[in-house]
Amino acid sequence: MPSTIVVGGFFGDEGKGKIISYLAIKDNPTIVVRGGAGPNAGHTIKDGDKVYKVRMLPSGFLNKNAKVMIGPGVVVNPEVMLKEVKDFDASGRSFLDKNCGIIEEDHRNQDSKGELKEKIGSTGSGTGPANASRAMRTLRLAKDIDSLSEYLVDVPLAVNSALDAGENVIIEGTQGTFLSLWHGTYPFVTSKDVTASGICADVGIGPKRVDEVIVVFKAYVTRVGTGPLENELDNDETSKRGWAEFGTVTGRPRRAADFDFSLAKRSVMLNSASQIAITKLDVRFPECERKTSYDELSDEAKLFIKNIEDELNVPVTLLGTGPTVNDIIDRRK
Ligand code: IMP
Ligand code: MG
Repeated sequence: MPSTIVVGGFFGDEGKGKIISYLAIKDNPTIVVRGGAGPNAGHTIKDGDKVYKVRMLPSGFLNKNAKVMIGPGVVVNPEVMLKEVKDFDASGRSFLDKNCGIIEEDHRNQDSKGELKEKIGSTGSGTGPANASRAMRTLRLAKDIDSLSEYLVDVPLAVNSALDAGENVIIEGTQGTFLSLWHGTYPFVTSKDVTASGICADVGIGPKRVDEVIVVFKAYVTRVGTGPLENELDNDETSKRGWAEFGTVTGRPRRAADFDFSLAKRSVMLNSASQIAITKLDVRFPECERKTSYDELSDEAKLFIKNIEDELNVPVTLLGTGPTVNDIIDRRK
C-alpha cells in the first residue's frame, strides 16, 4: 500500500496522532506529509514515558528514517515549527513547501478576539485569518522567510517522486470531517476543507494516487469549542463515563456525546473510506486496555466493532486500546 491517507471522521481529536505514529513506525514510509489547516491542530503522542504535543510537524516524526513534510496548503507559524524541529530531534529530516503560507502576529491577534474567538471558538492560533489573507493574495509565503530557507523543498514533487519509486508515503490529515469549511457545521468550522480530498490537494497529490483512506473515529464523539453536537452529554454524565478530555492546543474541556452512526456514515461517504480506525476503545471498554489482539477483546467490545462494520460497510482495521503508540490492534492483511 504505497500511499495511505489518514483523516479525522468527527470533529478532530479522534486520536489521529497515535494512529499515524504507529503506522509511521510499522509501515516504514519514506515520507510522512501533512495537510490540513495549520497550528490550530494539536496531536498528543505518547511513546513509552514520553509525551509529545505536536502542532506543526507531522505526527510521523517518531520514525527517524522518515522525512516529515508540510504541504503547501498548510499555513505555518515558523516559531512553532522551528521549536518542534528542535524539541523532537527532527532536524535534517523536516521540510516544508516553499509555498506554505506564513502566520503573522496580526493574524494571531485577529484570531484571539471578537467573533472568531467568542462565536466560533477559534483556537486563537491565527490559522483562519492567515487563510483569509491567502485568499486575498496578500499572505507572505515560506520562501520569503530567511529562518525557513534550509527547510524548503518542493513537497508535491518529493511526494509524487517517492510514489513513482514505489515507496510508502503516509498523508496526514488534521482536524476532522465536520470541521471542514465545505462539509462541516458551518460557521462553526475551521478555515479549510479537511476531508481526504482537501488534504490531498494540500500536499499536491491527485485523486488517483491514493491507495488507502483510513478514517479515524473515536469510540465516542468529542467537540472542542462551539457548534452543534447531537445528543451532547452534560458534564456529570461525561465524567461518569470517563470521557472528559481537554484540548491539546487550548486546554479547553471537550464536549462529549455517544458514537454517532449517522455522522460516521456521512464521513465514510465524504472521505471514500477504505478502512476505519477506532481509538480509545479502552476508554469505552476498560477491560480492553492495552490489548494487542482482537481475540482478547470482550464480547461487548467486539459487538460494538461489528455494529460499526455492519452499519458503515467498511472494515475496522485498527483499534486503539491505550495511550501509547503500541497499544493497538492491527487487523490489516
Ligand atoms: P480555528 O480553526 O482555530 O479557527 O477554530 C475553529 C473551530 O475549529 C473551533 O471550534 C476549534 O475548536 C475547532 N478546531 C480547530 N482545529 C481543531 C483541532 O485540531 N481539533 C479540534 N478542534 C479544532
Ligand atoms: Mg487535537
